[in-house]
Amino acid sequence: MAERYKGEFSVEFDHLVKNFGTSPVLRDVSFGIHTGKITTILGFSGAGKTTLMKHILGLAKPTSGRVSVLGQCLNDMSELELREFRRNFGMVFQYAALFDFLTSYENVAFPMREFTKMNEEEIKQKVMGLLDSVGISKEAAYRLPSELSGGMRKRVGLARGLALDPHIMLYDEPTSGLDPITTHVVYDLMRDTHRANEKNGFTSIIISHDIHATLKYSDYIVFMEQGKVVEHLDVETFKRSENPVIRRFLEL
Ligand SMILES: Nc1ncnc2c1ncn2[C@@H]1O[C@H](COP(=O)(O)OP(=O)(O)OP(=O)(O)O)[C@@H](O)[C@H]1O
Ligand SMILES: [Mg+2]
Repeated sequence: MAERYKGEFSVEFDHLVKNFGTSPVLRDVSFGIHTGKITTILGFSGAGKTTLMKHILGLAKPTSGRVSVLGQCLNDMSELELREFRRNFGMVFQYAALFDFLTSYENVAFPMREFTKMNEEEIKQKVMGLLDSVGISKEAAYRLPSELSGGMRKRVGLARGLALDPHIMLYDEPTSGLDPITTHVVYDLMRDTHRANEKNGFTSIIISHDIHATLKYSDYIVFMEQGKVVEHLDVETFKRSENPVIRRFLEL
């Protein structure tokens, strides 16, 4: 595993502003995401959650303000540097986005083939270990995504996100479209993955609409509304928040 980041915050936003045309989408966002913890970003649709995540990846550029990740400021990085830097991240998005022409095995092997000089034997060891850790059998490893259930595709997506030993895992609504039971299975898996790596400073950042899962699985919660961070609290304090918008969200 690469050397681990030891700073208090893996991600820091400093007066981040983002406008699309004339519409402000992020309005003066300043906070830090704790290293080694699970942080969930909550908020109604259109609050700016995905846009915030894109800034963490350097996929969106600030209109003003700064974004630092693992102690490095992204503002001044070139496209090439950013592309290299993105190896620090694992990503799981809404529709798992597996390559549908590749088996589970080949999907997980893909980043290793693309970004490392690992040989076939090393790749095999690593891929089978990762698939096993997310509960995908040897037999399912050689099936195509179309031959897997939605929950299994999420598992494979998670294994692929972990392929390069990321420092930070980013999940954008990883359970939308899943039934409630499978949702909890996927959350359990995200938490187990996190707990297995947290001592190494592994940081998980989740965007979610699922308030119940969020309260159960997160260490910290960031609540966004109309491009602003309304609250950034540990989960127990969040549950007791008196903020009317949050009370409304909690009572849904
Ligand atoms: N590339 C873009 N160009 C113009 N406007 C954009 C762009 N991306 C996002 N927006 C706008 O920014 C606002 C925030 O979008 P964002 O996708 O960050 O919200 P979100 O909190 O992730 O919402 P959801 O929960 O629906 O995914 C929305 O009003 C959206 O229309
Ligand atoms: Mg979104």
